[in-house]
Amino acid sequence: MTALEAVSDRPATTGASHDEALARDVVEGLTSRPKRLAAKYHYDALGSQLFEAICELPWYPITRGESALLRRESAAILGRLDDPATLVELGGGNGEKLAILAAGLAEQGRAATVHLIDISETALARASRTVAGYPSVAVRGHCAPYADGLRAAVGELPPDRAAMVLFLGSNIGNLAPDEADRFLAAIGAALRPGDSLLLGTDLVKPEEDLLLAYDDPLGVTAAFNRNLLVRLNRELDADFDIEQFTHRVVWNARESCVESYLVSRAEQTVCIPAAGCCVRFAAGETIWTESSYKYRADAVVDMAARAGFAYGAQWIEPDAAFALTLLDAP
Ligand SMILES: C[S@@+](CC[C@H](N)C(=O)[O-])C[C@H]1O[C@@H](n2cnc3c(N)ncnc32)[C@H](O)[C@@H]1O
Repeated sequence: MTALEAVSDRPATTGASHDEALARDVVEGLTSRPKRLAAKYHYDALGSQLFEAICELPWYPITRGESALLRRESAAILGRLDDPATLVELGGGNGEKLAILAAGLAEQGRAATVHLIDISETALARASRTVAGYPSVAVRGHCAPYADGLRAAVGELPPDRAAMVLFLGSNIGNLAPDEADRFLAAIGAALRPGDSLLLGTDLVKPEEDLLLAYDDPLGVTAAFNRNLLVRLNRELDADFDIEQFTHRVVWNARESCVESYLVSRAEQTVCIPAAGCCVRFAAGETIWTESSYKYRADAVVDMAARAGFAYGAQWIEPDAAFALTLLDAP
C-alpha cells in the first residue's frame, strides 16, 4: 500500500459511487456518539457558492490575507517553478488564488500546466473557468477527494520537471493534527526531490475574531453549515426539518480549533431512507460538522518537518494573521 492509499478517503467498497459513500458515512456519523458529519460534504453546488460568499464577508479574513500574500510574494513563488511550470492545487475552490499566480506567469510570458483537485464539481468548473482566462495555462481537473486526486495528478507529472503543490486557504486546518501529519507525509512521499509545497495556514487570533469568522452576523456561515442537511434531504431523501437545527461555533482553546456544530432544537427523529436509517435527536444534541485548526507560525514549520519537508520560506500577513509557508519536498 502506498502512503497515499493509506490516507485515502475513498469509499472502502471498490466501485462505490459518491452517493453510496455519502450514505455510508452518514449512517456511520449519525449513529456515532457524539454525532458527526464530514466537513467535505459541505461542498455541493450550493455549498460551494455559499463558501464563495463567505470569502467576501468582512469577518472572514483568510481569503483577503492569503491573496495579499500571494500577490506580495508572487516573484519568490514563481521563481521556484520550472519552465513550463507544473502546479497541483488541492481543494482550490473557485481558483481565484491560483489566478494570482497564473497572472504572474502570464506577465512573464511563461506557460504552465495546472492539476486541479477538488471534491466539488461546481468548484472545479468555476476554477477551470477562472484559469481559462490565461491561455498559456493548461488545466487538468480531477473531481476527487484529495488523496485520490493527488495520486492521479502525480501519475501525470512530467518526469523531468519539478512540480509545486498548492494547499491553500488553510484547508489543512479541517484535518485533525494526526490526519494532517499523515496527509503531509503522504504528499511528501508522492513528491520527488526538487518538488515543493506551498501551504496556507490560518494563525491563532483573538477568540472574538475567530468566532465571527465562523458565525457571521449575516448568517452566511450558518447557511453554509445548515446546507449540509439540505443536501442530505435532496441526495438521500432525508426528512430533516432545517428550521429545527441551529448553527453553533465554539473556540476549543486546548485543541486550538474552531468547532462547528448543528444543534437540534428539539427532541426529534429524522429518517434517511437512502441510507436505510432513522436517527433520534435529543433536544440540544449536536452534530459536529467541522473543525478549523489554527496554528502558530513556528508550529506549521514543525508540522511540515515531521512530514519530512525542509523549510524554504515563510511569509505572514499580520492583519489577517495568516501564513504562507514554502517547503521543499523530502
Ligand atoms: C474551505 S474551501 C477553500 C478553497 C480555496 N483553497 C480557498 O482558499 O479559497 C475548501 C475547498 O476544498 C474542497 N474540499 C474539501 N474537502 C475536500 C476533500 N476531502 N477532497 C477534495 N477536495 C476537498 C472543497 O470542495 C472546496 O473547494
